Amino acid sequence: MQVAIIGAGYVGLVTGGGLASLGHRVRLGEVDSDRVARLDSGDVPIFEHGLPDLLSSGSEQDLISYHTSNVEAAEGADFIFLCLPTPQADDGRADLGLVHAVVDELANEVADDAIFVVKSTVPPGTVAGLRKRLADLGSPARVVSHPEFLREGKAVEDFMEPDRIVVGAYDEQDAEAVADLYASLDAKVVRTDPTSAEMIKYASNSYLAARLTFVNTLANVCEAVGADVLDVISGMGMDHRIGRHFLKPGPGYGGSCFPKDTAALIGVAEDAGYDFELLRAVIDADHQQRRRVAEKVRQAAGGGLRGRRVAMWGVAFKAGTDDVRESPALRIAELLKEEGADVVAYDPEATTDQVTMAADPIEATRDADVLFIATEWPVFLTIDMTDVAKAMKGYRVVDSRNLLDPTAVRAAGLDYWGLGRPGA
Ligand code: UGA
Repeated sequence: MQVAIIGAGYVGLVTGGGLASLGHRVRLGEVDSDRVARLDSGDVPIFEHGLPDLLSSGSEQDLISYHTSNVEAAEGADFIFLCLPTPQADDGRADLGLVHAVVDELANEVADDAIFVVKSTVPPGTVAGLRKRLADLGSPARVVSHPEFLREGKAVEDFMEPDRIVVGAYDEQDAEAVADLYASLDAKVVRTDPTSAEMIKYASNSYLAARLTFVNTLANVCEAVGADVLDVISGMGMDHRIGRHFLKPGPGYGGSCFPKDTAALIGVAEDAGYDFELLRAVIDADHQQRRRVAEKVRQAAGGGLRGRRVAMWGVAFKAGTDDVRESPALRIAELLKEEGADVVAYDPEATTDQVTMAADPIEATRDADVLFIATEWPVFLTIDMTDVAKAMKGYRVVDSRNLLDPTAVRAAGLDYWGLGRPGA
């Protein structure tokens, strides 16, 4: 099949590369001409494990091309995948401006039997609105909802081995046509109406955010009563109704999805006359978690941060990505800086101008009063903590990901404070 992908961001590039690997002909449309030039020369603009190989193999087989014109990308396409950002507007709701603009641009340029496929995360009812929009523009093209469930850092794996493929269509044939694109993957397909498909995406992300926030707050209770949260979640996770995944306490959730999608779902519910109080409490507790971790760092620095140096390991919102969008590390760094701390960070992949970046992890700890672990990069486990102890001025380590081995840290003469653990 011939597929146009509009938007060469994380979702567009992984989906495009993935569909090409399944044998489809993919034409990517991207307005950023520098990005197109980089992609054309084989340079992948984002750090995503497995993506460079996927794209280069697609290009070698002549199955992928990049275009600065969306109209050119959509030429002859059976499907037009919309992989566009739907950023959070000032009122918390999703901004659909880009999706609308592209549908307007392409409505009468695509083949009569083309299907618009909405991959972007959009509020329930969006596809219904787009269907009407296309009809109003006199376009015979159809539209389906087909949300993405790719995790950054594991996106290629998630494309190739999806837990499920969700297709929300008005017409059985359209659902079949989209599902057929993935026939060689042998994945479970959920077929439903577009509004329910859109809701599956918001419900999944909001549930995961709530689950994680429950675990984060549970860690705080464990700390208060002297229990070890790692043993508690291990015991909880053995219940097959709970499961072991997505139960690691941390400094709060970040990234381009959870903060935006939880806020958007509250807006969706509110517009429909329902106060999603539970989800509002999740967001409040998540923000509180960042403040709590910042407070821990303050305590570790002796109760005040003015003139103190904090070494921060990790700026990415999680390990495996160079993405710093809504990163808890940076939100916490802001709180520390507001109180007068000097934050020097190291990250193996990500960078930012919001804090001073050091060239290596030991350099970041030079003369630091506290070491704060913000992102769970496995490489931090390989660092000799005696080198850290020598470089630091202070002696406390605040590990907001429970990443390091407390025994190894203490053996180096440092004091270890985890999250929700005895002695934390
Ligand atoms: C999330 C969803 O997991 C994907 O299914 C979805 O497709 C994607 O959003 C999206 O909507 O595009 P992602 O934002 O890449 O994926 O990140 P996650 O791996 O879900 O992590 C989100 C946050 O939770 C991160 O800040 C991470 O550090 C945190 N987290 C996750 C924990 O603190 N503990 C955990 O056990 C798991």
